[in-house]
Formats: sequence, C-alpha cells, structure tokens
Amino acid sequence: MATLTQPQPTPAADFLPLKGTDHVEFYVGNARQSAYFYCAAFGMTLVAYSGPETGHRDRASYVLQQGKVRFVLTTALRPDSEIAQHVHKHGDGVRAIALWVDDARQAWRETTSRGARSIQEPTELSDEHGQVVTSSIAAYGDTIHTFVERTHYTGPFLPGFRHVAHDHVARPVGLLHIDHMVGNVGWNSMNDWVDFYAKVMGFSLYQHFDEKDISTEYSALMSKVMANGNGYVKFPINEPAQGRRKSQIEEYLDFYQGPGVQHIALATSDILTTVSKMQQQGVDFLTVPHSYYTELQDRVGKIDEPLEELERLGILVDRDDEGYMLQIFTRPVEDRPTVFFEIIQRKGSRSFGKGNFKALFEAIEREQALRGNL
Ligand code: FE2
Repeated sequence: MATLTQPQPTPAADFLPLKGTDHVEFYVGNARQSAYFYCAAFGMTLVAYSGPETGHRDRASYVLQQGKVRFVLTTALRPDSEIAQHVHKHGDGVRAIALWVDDARQAWRETTSRGARSIQEPTELSDEHGQVVTSSIAAYGDTIHTFVERTHYTGPFLPGFRHVAHDHVARPVGLLHIDHMVGNVGWNSMNDWVDFYAKVMGFSLYQHFDEKDISTEYSALMSKVMANGNGYVKFPINEPAQGRRKSQIEEYLDFYQGPGVQHIALATSDILTTVSKMQQQGVDFLTVPHSYYTELQDRVGKIDEPLEELERLGILVDRDDEGYMLQIFTRPVEDRPTVFFEIIQRKGSRSFGKGNFKALFEAIEREQALRGNL
C-alpha cells in the first residue's frame, strides 16, 4: 500500500534549508536547437546566454524560463570536455538539479560533513550585478546537486551570462513551478539513495509505493518520495522490481547507461489550457484507452473538469482524502527512451498518481513493445 507520512521537522532541525529549485541544467548535443524546442513546444522564454561571446571557450548555455521553472541547456564546443562525455554516454539528460539556498558554503559543509562527495567547493562569482556563491555535490549516477546562493545578485542568471532581451519564439503555456523531480536508480539501490537524502540532505520520507501499487503484468517498480523540511523540494526515487518482462526503469537504465533523472513534473493551475497548447505546439503525450474514462467517475467522484475534455487531451485524474489531482505524461523528449515530463495540476491532493499507475504503465509498456524493449 502507499503510505503517506507527513514530514514535520522543526526549523532548528533542518540543517539544509532550501528555498526551492533554482534551476535544472541539461547537458545536450545541440543547445541552440534544444532551446528552440523548449521555447516553441513547452513555451519557455530565452532569458540569458553564455558562450564564446561571453568568454566561455568550451561551452554554450541557454537559460530558459517560464513562471519559476528555469532550465539551462548546455552543450560542449569541444570533444574532450566532460559535457561531451556526458552526452556521449547518457544522451541528452539532466546534469544538475540546482537548489536555491541562503548560504551555499554552509550547504556544502553540512552535506559533505555528512558523507556527500564534493564536486565543486564553494566558489564566489561576481560581475557588475553582484555576487553569487555556488557549490556542488554528487547525487545518483552522474547527476549532481548544485547549491546556488544569489541573495546579493540582480543579474539575469549567473555572472558570465548575458541578458537576452527578446525571444521571438516563446509561446507560454502556463507552467508555474517544478512539483517534483524523479530519479531512477539501479536494482536494490532505492533505499541507499533514500538514506542519502535522509542523512546527507535532511529530507524525510513523504510517501512510498511497493510493487503491489506499481505493477502490471510485466512492468514493476518500487518508489519512495523524499521531501525536504519545508516540502518545497520532492524527489521520488524509483528502482526496478522483478516482473515477467523488462521493467520500464530497466529500459531507462539501459539507455541512459545508469541512474539519472527520469521525469520532471511541472505544475500548472489550468491543465486543460496548458496541455491543449502544448499539444498544438507539437508535444507528444502518452494516451490511455477509452475505458479509463468510463471508469473514472466511479473512481474519483465529482470533479470540475468535463470528462470529454479530459479524454480528448488524455489527462489522468487521481484522488486522495485531501482532494484530487490531474496529470499527464509526455513521451520521452529525446530519441533514447529516457527523460520525459509530467504536467500536473493539484486540487488539494498530495498524490503522485497511484490510482493511475496501472493505466499509465500499460500505456508505457505499449510504447516499450513498439521499441522492442519489453
Ligand atoms: Fe511524477
């Protein structure tokens, strides 16, 4: 069964206070073209750039924003860079989940003293807009957490980036903030990473699901959701479980060549409009069969949205005792079956969509079968 636990640490006990997600940095094969995709299809706006023109000889980065969602798309300009190696191994994927803090030095000290592997010691950067301090630690696979302290900074992103005044492509769709970011880890590794987030980062268990919650005939996985002290940052961690055929998590691990970010859930306050626009702008979403909608009313009771609209767009619904939520998942946004997105609207519910797992995973399995990976 899914178990709901309410983390309520006292503020004094929170040794790693987080103000939210600062940004997500993707390492990609061609950042200029990826930026076009996220602007045209997801409605992000290009706000800042760094590259050779701003003094970075080995990379180019595009900063995209919509609401509080900020993506950085970074590509290598030379084959011997760690960015090129990351893309060679993983394909396009998430390198850094950057967290917004008041004190990046303290965040680094607190986490490394509890066993985190340092990737970058606290470093101060400055330009005419002020100072930023960043530091980084290793997380699962080649994914890292970067702590960003920007209290004394007024620039467009970070020192070294220049403001981009006009984006002629962006078609905003109403994305507000990141609801959660999910990591896939290897066989029997979920609890090690749950321990990492508990001990090293002070997170607590928010919900967990076992194979009985998340399994179909073929595709099984287990998941635990870790949340930070104020609940602004939530990281579900998935591991594959034994089923009759290959778990969707195993397919991810094969193609990503190890653990990494599986999906990023983006919140909206009007999912009908958001998803409708994204579909018109070319985003591919997973679909569920008509039978899902004939059974929906009995399962979730009365909801505000017209059922036929939900079915037309393929939006899923789940309910818990606090309310309900609407969600939909994109297909992977690169050729490898790895990273995808979720669009979510919460109406009271804190669910991650347990009631949809079966319908959803059957949809994923249909796609896995088409790829010859089931
Ligand atoms: Fe999710």
